[in-house]
Amino acid sequence: MDWGMANRMAQLIQSDGRCVFMPIDHGYFQGPTTKLENPWRTLEPLLPYSDAVFVTRGVLRSSIDPLASKPIVLRMSGGTSMVGGDLANEGITTSMEEAIRLNASAVGISVFIGSDYERQTLLNLSTLVNEGEKYGIPVMAVTAVGREMEKRDARYLALCARICAELGAKVVKTYWCEDFEKVVEGCPVPVIMAGGPTVDTELEVLQFVSDGMIRGAIGVNLGRNIWQNDNPVPLIRAIRQIVHEDVSAEDAHKLFETLKSNPT
Ligand code: 5RP
Repeated sequence: MDWGMANRMAQLIQSDGRCVFMPIDHGYFQGPTTKLENPWRTLEPLLPYSDAVFVTRGVLRSSIDPLASKPIVLRMSGGTSMVGGDLANEGITTSMEEAIRLNASAVGISVFIGSDYERQTLLNLSTLVNEGEKYGIPVMAVTAVGREMEKRDARYLALCARICAELGAKVVKTYWCEDFEKVVEGCPVPVIMAGGPTVDTELEVLQFVSDGMIRGAIGVNLGRNIWQNDNPVPLIRAIRQIVHEDVSAEDAHKLFETLKSNPT
């Protein structure tokens, strides 16, 4: 790997080989999602506990303090919305020159495998990889499912993750699922877990994060399950303990409860 690419990867993936990314990109198709109406208000208290931020260029420029920031993963796909025809019909929304101007450490793009736009979104990924390789910028592929949440099983996600790696993604972000090791084992590049819509309890979040880490994920890119929680800072701190310190879900939950009642 060339020096620039290796250096950018090291900004994202910490020296223990693990990472906690903080995605606040949801507005690019969901609009002002609950608790993300004011992105900086949501992000600021979480930044000290985030290894990188996944964000669009619009919110980066308008809402994030360049002096307080962490490494940026710039979202570079979009063009669809919750109220439009098909969420999968995405294009590339900005350029690698813009990513360089914004000092992005990586770029991220969604692919919609099995959808009517499979070919288009996979070729979008290939185009970004070609551009990223020119400038030493890693590409994170996002295996998106749109509204079809039932697609989140190991067979489908393993297929998606492998295809993304084959096309040159340096990191794949996919959903946690049962038998997550099947997703990781078939993917020759690091796999990071997204969260999806909020689950019922904090313990459930901590349990799926822990399970995914034990089965080979290198970290999380977890948004709504953190910042839509009533206690986002205690929760991200508990998640960091699982990701970076190999703490069990149960012990992380105890930490969460302690931090919740005694915020320091
Ligand atoms: C949205 C994304 C998000 O970054 C990803 O889904 C992670 O966020 P969440 O944990 O809320 O699902 O790619 O397009």
